[in-house]
Amino acid sequence: MELIAVDLAKRLFRAEFADVRPIAGVTANLSVYTAFTEPGDVMLSLAIPNGGHITYGPKRVGGTAGRVRGLDVEYLPFDEESMNVDVDAARRKIEKLTAEGRKPRIVVFGGSLFLFPHPVRELSDYLRSMDIKVAYDGAHVLGLIAGGEFQDPLREGADVMMGSTHKTLPGPQGGVVLSWERYADQIKQAVFPSNVSNHHLHHVAGKAVAFAEMLAFGREYASQVVRNARRLAEELASRGFKVLGEAKGYTRSHQVVLDVTRNGGGMSVEKRLEDSNIIVNRNLLPYDLREGRSYKDPGGIRIGVQEVTRLGMKEGEMADVAEFIARVIIRNEPPERVAADVAEFRRGFNRVNYAFESPLEAYEYVKLVR
Ligand SMILES: Cc1ncc(COP(=O)(O)O)c(C=O)c1O
Repeated sequence: MELIAVDLAKRLFRAEFADVRPIAGVTANLSVYTAFTEPGDVMLSLAIPNGGHITYGPKRVGGTAGRVRGLDVEYLPFDEESMNVDVDAARRKIEKLTAEGRKPRIVVFGGSLFLFPHPVRELSDYLRSMDIKVAYDGAHVLGLIAGGEFQDPLREGADVMMGSTHKTLPGPQGGVVLSWERYADQIKQAVFPSNVSNHHLHHVAGKAVAFAEMLAFGREYASQVVRNARRLAEELASRGFKVLGEAKGYTRSHQVVLDVTRNGGGMSVEKRLEDSNIIVNRNLLPYDLREGRSYKDPGGIRIGVQEVTRLGMKEGEMADVAEFIARVIIRNEPPERVAADVAEFRRGFNRVNYAFESPLEAYEYVKLVR
C-alpha cells in the first residue's frame, strides 16, 4: 500500500523521491527541518502577516522552526504591493546575514496566504551558489501544482517540496515530502525515526486514492479552481469589496483575500458569514500589525474555492457566491435570511466531482491485482 502511494506521488509530482508517511503538513515541515538543518541554523521564511505559517515561526511566537527545531528564524522580505517575496531585498538580506556570519542554511518558500507563485526560479541558482537549501511548502497549493497550475517548484530549483494532502490536494488529512533521489536517505531518516512512528496507514491508503484521482482529473480540477478563484475575486470587487492583489489580477491560486477593515473587521465578517452558512477564515494582512490590529480581529478574510469547485461549481456560480457575501456584508441583510438561500443553492451541488465514479476504479487504476 505504502509503495503504491509512493509510486503515485512520484508520478503525480514528477519527483524522484516521495515520502508519504508524515501525518500532517506540520510533520512534513518538521521532517524537512530535521533533514536539512541543525539547531541554531538560520532559516529564512515569510513572517505570518505576510502569509507565513506558524511552522516557520521563531521561538518567541511558539513557531515550530524556532521552538521545536531550535532554528534561528529570519524573515524573507515581502513586497505588499505585489503580495510576493521581494527578490532583490531577499538577496541583499542574505548578503548581509552572510557578512555577519549568519548565513542561512535553508530558505523556505510558500505560505498560508498564497495568491501568487513565489520566485523560486528567480532565486534558486543564487541560493544554490551560496550552498543554501531551497525548500517549498506547498501545503495549500499542492493540488494546483499536481494539476499543472500555479508553479512547479521542483523544476524551478527547489531541493524539496512538502505539503498537506487535504487542502487543494483533495485527500485525507496528512502530509507528504517530495524531493530528489540524492536526498532520499536523509529525508527518510528524518521522517522515521525522528518525526513519525506509526504513520497512520489508513490515511496512506486515502492518499494513494487522492494521488490516483489527481493523476486522472487533476488538470481539469486545478484549472477550474484557479478560474473560479479569479472570477470570485472579480465578482466581489465589482460589488464594492476591497480585494487584494488587484494589480496582478487578484489571484493565481485557489484563494481570494479581502481587506474588510471598512466592513467591520475580520472577526465580525467571519462570524456573520458563518451565520449565513458561508465558511471563510479571518486572516492577518501584511499591514495589520503595523496598523494596530491583531490576529484575533485582523483586517482580512481568506476564501478558498477548492471545495465548492469539487462540488461542481463553475464561474457562473462564483457570481452567486459573491452575491450571497455582498448581501450579508455590504447590504447588511440578516444572516438567517441569507443562510436559508445559501442552503437552497447548495442543495444543487452534492456530488463529488473530479473523482472516480465507483469505489473500485481507484483500485483498478493502480492494478492491485496482477
Ligand atoms: C503553509 C502551511 N504549511 C503547513 C501547514 C500545516 O499543515 P497541516 O494542517 O497539514 O499540519 C499549514 C496549515 O494550514 C500551512 O498553511
